[in-house]
Amino acid sequence: MQRVFVSAFIPGDIVDPLRSTASVALWEGGGPAPRGVLLEQVRECEGLLSMLVDSIDAELLDAAVNLRVVSQMSVGLDNVDLEACVSRGIRIGHTPDVLTETVADTAFALMAAVVRKLPEGAAIVRENRWGTWDPWANLSGDLHGSTLGIIGMGRIGRAIARRAVGFDMDVLYSSPSGDEQPSARRVPLSQLLAEADLVVISASLTPQTRNLIGAIEMEAMKDSSHLINIARGGLVDTAALVDALHRGVIAGAALDVTDPEPLPAGHPLLTMENCLIVPHIGSASVKTRRGMAQLAVDNLIAGLGGGPMPAEFSLLRGR
Ligand code: DGY
Repeated sequence: MQRVFVSAFIPGDIVDPLRSTASVALWEGGGPAPRGVLLEQVRECEGLLSMLVDSIDAELLDAAVNLRVVSQMSVGLDNVDLEACVSRGIRIGHTPDVLTETVADTAFALMAAVVRKLPEGAAIVRENRWGTWDPWANLSGDLHGSTLGIIGMGRIGRAIARRAVGFDMDVLYSSPSGDEQPSARRVPLSQLLAEADLVVISASLTPQTRNLIGAIEMEAMKDSSHLINIARGGLVDTAALVDALHRGVIAGAALDVTDPEPLPAGHPLLTMENCLIVPHIGSASVKTRRGMAQLAVDNLIAGLGGGPMPAEFSLLRGR
């Protein structure tokens, strides 16, 4: 029987069908398996069900001599050495589509929070600083009618653009490929940065897109604008963001993802009032995380069986 390691807990009703295809070792220690456990477990395995925090690099692939399928429970694969997997004949699965709508919801939640100053308002109430209703206190900007700039027009970018119609937003986007969008205008990145009130990053992290938004790009944004990152922390130059927020180059940021992740204690971003950070929860609704787990299991079963995987990553096609 083939062997599989699942590097984080997955509920029994989802993972059990895998047991009829393979002998399954499931990490149940809470969170994802530590690196040492992962390296030890993959030695014997034909299949790996991985998480986005598992580094699928040369060290792991050298240890995993029997590995034939990596099925990751995320859409992003920046933690996987894709070329190395392909050159070793290892198939790769991931979980697009099932998380698109939830991540787009998260983008809007973050935009609403920073533009309408929800964390500041909640802090006033929690700290008993709410005296009375005041016509001129706690004022903010508006989400509706603003100009939204979306960097990366993949599935999630399109889902954000669709929602923006309901908010009467003027939607600009910058994307190297893909079809024209009905309710959004494709513009050069420089124009998007100059005109948008909200810049949302929804691109994949690759060697080419690392630090896509750095000091120059933030200087090009309006000082009243907000930067929202729901993709990967590495797309933004963290030191440049600290500086831009500190100097008021942009009004604020809302981050579902950071670089590094998590930020170390004492990091300047953790105490900046114009920076809202949540712990990589973009896809973290119960229904969506179960859907991702299900698709990862389905991909692994199909891949180990040698058939077409429901969501196989291809280097040629991209994701
Ligand atoms: C993904 O799937 O890449 C997301 O970041 C998970 O939340």
